[in-house]
Amino acid sequence: MTVAIDSDKLMGLVYKAVDEVGATLNAALVVMGDRLGYYQALADHGPTTPGELAERTSTSEHYTREWLNAQAAGGFVEYDADTGRYTLPPEQTVALTDPSSPAYLPGFFQIALGTIQHTTETIEAARSGAGIGWHEHTSDVHVGCERFFRPSYNANLLTSWLPALDGVVDKLKRGATVADIGCGHGASTILMAEAFPRSSFVGSDYHEASIETARLRATEAGVGERVTFEVAAATGFSGSGYDLVTTFDALHDMGDPVGAARHVRESLAADGTWMLVEPMAGDRVEDNLNPVGFSTLLCTPASLSQPVGLALGTQAGPARIRDVTKAAGFSRFRTVAQTPFNLVFEVRP
Ligand SMILES: C[S@@+](CC[C@H](N)C(=O)[O-])C[C@H]1O[C@@H](n2cnc3c(N)ncnc32)[C@H](O)[C@@H]1O
Repeated sequence: MTVAIDSDKLMGLVYKAVDEVGATLNAALVVMGDRLGYYQALADHGPTTPGELAERTSTSEHYTREWLNAQAAGGFVEYDADTGRYTLPPEQTVALTDPSSPAYLPGFFQIALGTIQHTTETIEAARSGAGIGWHEHTSDVHVGCERFFRPSYNANLLTSWLPALDGVVDKLKRGATVADIGCGHGASTILMAEAFPRSSFVGSDYHEASIETARLRATEAGVGERVTFEVAAATGFSGSGYDLVTTFDALHDMGDPVGAARHVRESLAADGTWMLVEPMAGDRVEDNLNPVGFSTLLCTPASLSQPVGLALGTQAGPARIRDVTKAAGFSRFRTVAQTPFNLVFEVRP
């Protein structure tokens, strides 16, 4: 049977592909601009020629010229044809050079670029059904993750997420014990430790290199005495009687989220709270047609690399997450906050 081809639709797809290929390559250009200091130099000096940018960053003008033109094409910098100079507009300056802004973007590009470095392995894994562990990725995935999530935690954790939990902020002010599981580089653990000096915190993650970095970050932040970090899977982190357990963007990466939830349940005090932060998602496929492909390339393979390999994916949705907590013996579950990227659940015994 011959199927009629709509040539306008076909060409529309080709033009869309040009944008998408451009966006794919732009991820490398943004990481390049971040790492070589191009954005910072543009922010510091205003309208700049390729030669000036090369001199200020000790790089080759052949590269700064091409990079600036590509960035101007993508709207990341502005080009003035009269002067031949390139400018980083104020909004781009915030998004590309201010790590304290919730709109800070370089980590997003860094984790994306780090993730696609394993494309060949992911293709093989899709054939075999094997997984690729979080620890098997390049440090761009680990550092990019920290740099991507930290601005959102800075903007939301103390002002909106913790206050949305029943009675938790009062406990933290008085002095509580907290376990932050799957803590990565400890951005969330350290932020809470800085805010609540009477409380003590144990961050854990199965990835040894991440825990080493988290310890370094805690020392740099001056909270090393109240924060300890341990290498432990979520099914076996140490301690008991915790007032609060937190999990930030990590449950769906775990092979055995029900086992992890069961261990959280055992480790909590009778009136304790588990704050579970997961990616924004709905319960139906049509709610989750999200173009950001981390689920296929990073989170699903991470879960499949571990025992059980439940592979919730990044768009499990509240109903499936609630089922996981229910299977682990929790009886109370409610959504308490959300951002464009995250859902925050309060889970209690
Ligand atoms: C997307 S990262 C989030 C890290 C950190 N919570 C943050 O928000 O920056 C997921 C983390 O889950 C950790 N992880 C994956 N499986 C785990 C497991 N079974 N037990 C403990 N941590 C695990 C990974 O090592 C990684 O640090």
